[in-house]
Amino acid sequence: MAHPQPGIFALGASAHWHLEATLREGVTPAALVDAVRSFARERATTSGVDLVVGFGARTWAAAGGEVPDGMTAFQPVVGPDGFTVPATQCDVWAWLAGSGEDVVFDHARTVAAGLDSVCDVAYEQHGFAYRDSRDLTGFVDGTENPSVHEAVTEATIPDGRPGAGGSVVVVQRWVHDLAAFERLTVAQQEAVIGRTKPDSTELDEDDRPDDAHISRVVVEEEGGELEIFRRSTPFGSLSEHGLQFVGFSADQRRLDLMLARMAGADGGPRDRLTRFSAPVRSAYYFTPPLEALRAEG
Ligand code: HEM
Repeated sequence: MAHPQPGIFALGASAHWHLEATLREGVTPAALVDAVRSFARERATTSGVDLVVGFGARTWAAAGGEVPDGMTAFQPVVGPDGFTVPATQCDVWAWLAGSGEDVVFDHARTVAAGLDSVCDVAYEQHGFAYRDSRDLTGFVDGTENPSVHEAVTEATIPDGRPGAGGSVVVVQRWVHDLAAFERLTVAQQEAVIGRTKPDSTELDEDDRPDDAHISRVVVEEEGGELEIFRRSTPFGSLSEHGLQFVGFSADQRRLDLMLARMAGADGGPRDRLTRFSAPVRSAYYFTPPLEALRAEG
């Protein structure tokens, strides 16, 4: 049995760091995977800092890795009114999560040094836990996340399938317009999300608009809800801030469906939350199981 990277399920870290990078010209995907293996081997779950790494589907396949069924690079999602979730696919993503900025910073330097000879950094972002697991809008983020036990099933590719023990993850940068959101009354904000603000209680279906965030991202199929495991964190400065969205799934399809519904590309209404936050980066990565990260290149 292949084992998922444990950092995916390690909740509670207050300091986060994300890096996305692209292969330097002339470097092979196999050389990138070797470089990642050399630091991932030592870094996973040491010193209270968890490391999770993912690769673009094409990069992982070119390095000889097994790619999950149906996994592709991120394609832009365009709604009928032109609202767009842009694609900014890179070759590799690394995410560190730990108890403090200091240890995360030290580990980030090691990861960056490990990638330095093979990649160019396309994106780097610190993230932080905000109050009691809230998004910067002030709403609790993660209420309906599956428990860690369920998440291992929902977010891990099952045995017998290509990529077993791994996950497909969407990594996105959403930039909030907090001033516009805060001009709404609390009742209006709650209608945007579909839950109450102080205690994250779901609004009655009768009172919940069709374009509320949770009305759009809850997808029911054959009587069951499609689940993903979200590990997003707020980020930012006073001038630009928002949510570094990270959602793990056992297949890319559920993520595609949720994003299409948020954009209104399914024929339904566009998620009202997208009037107050703009997606500016999006990519899909495959997070290989531990065994594939340990294997010699
Ligand atoms: C600006 C970006 C986003 C913000 C601020 C945001 C915020 C929230 C909040 C406050 C909740 C309600 C509490 C909870 O159950 O966690 C929620 C639920 C949820 N969100 Fe988002 N979200 C964002 C983007 C996304 C995206 C891009 C996806 C999917 C790709 C997504 C999928 C979900 C799901 C599946 C739920 C749980 C729904 C349920 O079962 O009730 N969200 N989000």
